[in-house]
Amino acid sequence: MLPLKDKVALITGSSRGIGNAIARKLALAGADIVVNFRKAGGSSEQQAEQLCREVEGVGRRSLMVQADIAVKDSVKKLFAEVNEKFGRLDLLILNAAKAPFKPIEKLFERELRQLVETNYLGNIFCIQEALPLLEKSGGKIVFISSLGSRFYNPAYPLGSMKAAMESVVRDCAEGLRQKNVSVNAVCGGIVKTDSFKVLRQFWENIDMLPESLFVEPDELADVVVFLCGSESRGITGQTIVVDKGLSNAICRLPESK
Ligand SMILES: NC(=O)c1ccc[n+]([C@@H]2O[C@H](COP(=O)([O-])OP(=O)(O)OC[C@H]3O[C@@H](n4cnc5c(N)ncnc54)[C@H](OP(=O)(O)O)[C@@H]3O)[C@@H](O)[C@H]2O)c1
Repeated sequence: MLPLKDKVALITGSSRGIGNAIARKLALAGADIVVNFRKAGGSSEQQAEQLCREVEGVGRRSLMVQADIAVKDSVKKLFAEVNEKFGRLDLLILNAAKAPFKPIEKLFERELRQLVETNYLGNIFCIQEALPLLEKSGGKIVFISSLGSRFYNPAYPLGSMKAAMESVVRDCAEGLRQKNVSVNAVCGGIVKTDSFKVLRQFWENIDMLPESLFVEPDELADVVVFLCGSESRGITGQTIVVDKGLSNAICRLPESK
């Protein structure tokens, strides 16, 4: 029994990291997969090709589309290709993200624009362009957030965009209710992906975090698959935290001497 059989899922930024794990899990659950990435001609594209081979290896169809979600015309082209190949879209996973790791007050104008264009506007462009297809299928949108939406980290300006997007998730869940499109989010703890390898250079004491508090990409992906399936029908406009309990302990004060 494949819970997502005959569904078509698009995962933005799925060449590597968490998006890649989500795409593999959705394929195993029966969905055909649209793999999106940004950077043409490099290792990202090679990993996207490899993912497509894996998806087809488990009997699902795949489509690989290079598109920068921050550029509206590029997003239009992405959804036109999805429509041309599959004629439908059931699941939109808003996973792609890119941001510099430095305090907000030190960001250059170019970096600020990239922050907003990729991590806020880009997601909204995707929602807008996906909507005609999602309305037809009674589809679902899942946004991938992070603990930066609610906790301070000096090197993580992306957190403010995640907070904004969690509000968008709530607003769109209500706004799109009549169109039969559901919207939710998964807020991940700390996952050892390529972006974490860079972030750790700016994060004092992160190496003290016990291994048991790191989240595996598959642990996040399993919750995304749940939100994509019918068992999540009672959940609307929510952000589910998947952080191995890290946020439960985040307010513990340092021990006094
Ligand atoms: N790692 C963590 O600890 C963690 C924790 C919680 C939540 N998250 C969230 O999970 C998501 C994935 O994170 P990750 O750590 O797996 O990231 P990652 O390893 O840096 O991978 C990012 C992916 O997004 C793509 N991408 C970046 N900018 C794009 C754009 N403008 N258009 C299309 N694709 C774009 C990248 O493609 P290219 O390689 O072609 O650029 C890549 O496939 C993000 O939303 C992140 O905020 C991460």
